[in-house]
Amino acid sequence: MSRWAMFHDQVICITGAASGFGKLMAETLDSAGARLIISDVNVEALEAVSGAMVNTDRVVSVACDVAVERDVEALVAAAKQHFGRLDIMVNNAGLGSPPKLLTEVTEDEMDLNYNVNTKGVFFGIKHAIRQMLAQEPSGGTILNVASMAGIGAAPLLGAYAAAKHGVVGLTKTAAYEFGRQGIRVNAICPFFSPTPLVTQEGGLGERMDTLQKSSPMNRMGSPEEMVEVMLQLMSPHNSFMNGQAVAVDGGMSAI
Ligand SMILES: NC(=O)c1ccc[n+]([C@@H]2O[C@H](COP(=O)([O-])OP(=O)(O)OC[C@H]3O[C@@H](n4cnc5c(N)ncnc54)[C@H](O)[C@@H]3O)[C@@H](O)[C@H]2O)c1
Repeated sequence: MSRWAMFHDQVICITGAASGFGKLMAETLDSAGARLIISDVNVEALEAVSGAMVNTDRVVSVACDVAVERDVEALVAAAKQHFGRLDIMVNNAGLGSPPKLLTEVTEDEMDLNYNVNTKGVFFGIKHAIRQMLAQEPSGGTILNVASMAGIGAAPLLGAYAAAKHGVVGLTKTAAYEFGRQGIRVNAICPFFSPTPLVTQEGGLGERMDTLQKSSPMNRMGSPEEMVEVMLQLMSPHNSFMNGQAVAVDGGMSAI
């Protein structure tokens, strides 16, 4: 039996599921027998993930740009249409920004970061909670993927840091506003992990080595280590944790 059997039959929507953390989470939850709505703006990569799923009758893939509200609304509607409800929303989709000092960051870079990394999460929270309040029985869980850059300084990543701090603010506010209605909202704040976001051209490049050495554990976290905590945070067994931004950082934030 899967270690994650508690997710069997749960209706779970994941944004940014075509790569990195989202893809690994989709694969893990597929093995656990969850009912999945996987989505991404990269349709080709999403179809590849969807095609490799085991329980194909339990997986729906939906093209969705999280920066576009009607896309996110349609994504949540797909959960209702196919599975009758939404138990867990994972607002995972996100993008990085080219490393540079704040004095060099452009308005377009600020806008892009805000639109995808903050507003994308806002749309996911808004439409998921509307559905969770309307369904019977009502309630649900939301997991937002923030970052270490959402709880502290992120040198050379100012636009990203501003956007991810916004995710933590939305997480705490949503948890406070809807906790009494049976909705838990938490965020994970990962340290660097070698997904395409950081390994691709224009990612961290040569800074990777320096960043690893600055960590108490002298390494990045693996995607498996991040998804492990993401699943723990959103588990139905973790029923009293609400409004938290949990660092998974090898001790970096303890310094
Ligand atoms: N990898 C890290 O070091 C790290 C650290 C902290 C936080 N994070 C966060 O983790 C989340 C997942 O990132 P990852 O590391 O797996 O990166 P990734 O690049 O492997 O995956 C991100 C996915 O999001 C999708 N995406 C980007 N813009 C989108 C949009 N507008 N609409 C829908 N989908 C979109 C991409 O197509 C991609 O499939 C992101 O929110 C990222 O900011 C990552």
